[in-house]
Amino acid sequence: MIKEEKIIVFDDVIVIPSLSPVEPSQVDLRTMVTGNIELYVPLVSSPMDTVTEHQMAVKLAKLGGIGVIHRNMSIDDQLHQVILVKETDTTSLLEDIASRGNNINLHLSGSRCKLTIEDVELYNQDEMDEILSVCRLKSRYPIKPVTGKDGLLAVGAAVSPFDLRRIKKLDGVADILVVDVAHAHNVNVLNSLSKVSRDIESDLIVGNIGTREAVLDVIAKLDKVDGLRVGISSGSICSTGEVTGAAAPTLWAVIKAREALEELGLHGKVPIIADGGIRSPADIVKSLIAGASAVMVGRMIAGTRESPSQLISVGGGVYKQYRGMASPSSTRRRYAVDRYGGNVKKVSEGVEGLVPYSGSLASVVEHVVYSLQAGLGYAGAARIRDAWKARLGLLSESAKKEIKPHDLVT
Ligand code: IMP
Repeated sequence: MIKEEKIIVFDDVIVIPSLSPVEPSQVDLRTMVTGNIELYVPLVSSPMDTVTEHQMAVKLAKLGGIGVIHRNMSIDDQLHQVILVKETDTTSLLEDIASRGNNINLHLSGSRCKLTIEDVELYNQDEMDEILSVCRLKSRYPIKPVTGKDGLLAVGAAVSPFDLRRIKKLDGVADILVVDVAHAHNVNVLNSLSKVSRDIESDLIVGNIGTREAVLDVIAKLDKVDGLRVGISSGSICSTGEVTGAAAPTLWAVIKAREALEELGLHGKVPIIADGGIRSPADIVKSLIAGASAVMVGRMIAGTRESPSQLISVGGGVYKQYRGMASPSSTRRRYAVDRYGGNVKKVSEGVEGLVPYSGSLASVVEHVVYSLQAGLGYAGAARIRDAWKARLGLLSESAKKEIKPHDLVT
C-alpha cells in the first residue's frame, strides 16, 4: 500500500522573515530541555562514544547546554563519568579563566568583558580561542552554567530501556535519563519502560521516535515523559534509511511530534529535542521554528577538543574519529564492555569516519549563539517560544539554487 506523504527535510524549507521586536543581540535563547531543566543555549550533545564523556558534558553545561554520557561502557564506568561531572565546581568558564593565573587580567563591568593577557606564549591556540570566545560571549549573551536540582552541573545519561540495572544505578544521580534506542515506538520498549517510568526520579527523555502516532502512544503508555527525542535516520553517521528503507527525517519528525503534542495540549510542556542531521545553526533555527525546544548534535561537536576521540593526523590535516553507535566497531565495543547490555542488531545501521578537528567547544557554541540570535531575529522571535509562531516556507528547486552563493569564480 502506498500512503502518499510528502517528507520534507531541512534543505526543503527556509525561514520566512518577519517583523522583529528586538535586535539580534537581545534574542533570548533560554529553553527547557525537560519540564524541569532550563538551558541557556538549546544544545544537547549526543550520547555517542566519540562525542560525550565527562569533559564534553562539563564544558557544555558550563556553556549553557547539556551533555548526555554515552552507554558504550560498563554501568560502573558510566556512573563514574556522571559523578565526575557532578564533582566539578559550578563556577563559570570566565571565572575558571580568571583563576588560571595572574598573567590574565579580566575586567568585568556589566556585560563588558575586557581582557589583557600578559604572556600569550603560555597558551596554545585552542586555549586562546576558548578564552577569547568565552570573553566575547560574555559581552553578547549571558550564559551561565546549567545546574540540576542538586545545585551541581546538570548532566544526562543514556540508557537502554531493557537495562534495568543501569537505569536503577543512574537514576537520581544523572539529572536526565535519556532512552537510547533507534525505534522507541516498539511494544517491547514501551512495555519495559512502562514498568519503571513511574518510579524514575531523574527526568526521562524518551526516543527516538518520528511520527505523530509514536508521540501519542508514548504519552499514553508511560506515566512519566519529560521530553521527546525526535528524528530517525537523519544522523550524519546513520545508514538506517539506506539499510532498512525506513526513516523519519528530523524536520518532518519534529513537525509530526508537534502536531501530536498540540492535539494533547502538551506542546511547550513536553519539550521536543530534534536529533540527527543538524549540520549548521540554520538547521537549528528551522528545528526550533518547527516546534523543537532544543537540538541534539553529534557531528557538529565531534571534532572539538572536548570530544573523547583521539586526534589523528592524515595527509597534513588533523581529524577526530566519529562513528555511529550502531557502526560495526562501536557495537563490538558495546558487546565487549557489557555483554548483558541488550541485543546487538544483526545489521549495522551506522558508519564511521573522520571529522576535521575544530578546536574548542566554546568557539563552536559562540558561532551557534550568534547565528541563532540572527536567525531568530529574521524570524521575528525574541525567544524560542516565539519562534514556534514563525513560518517556514517550502522552496522550489530554483529557489534552492538562488539562495546559495552563486555565479562567482572561487
Ligand atoms: P548528527 O548530529 O547528524 O551526527 O547525528 C547524531 C545522532 O545520530 C545521534 O544523536 C543519534 O540519534 C543518531 N545516531 C547515533 N549513532 C547512530 C547509528 O549508528 N545509526 C543511526 N543513528 C545514529
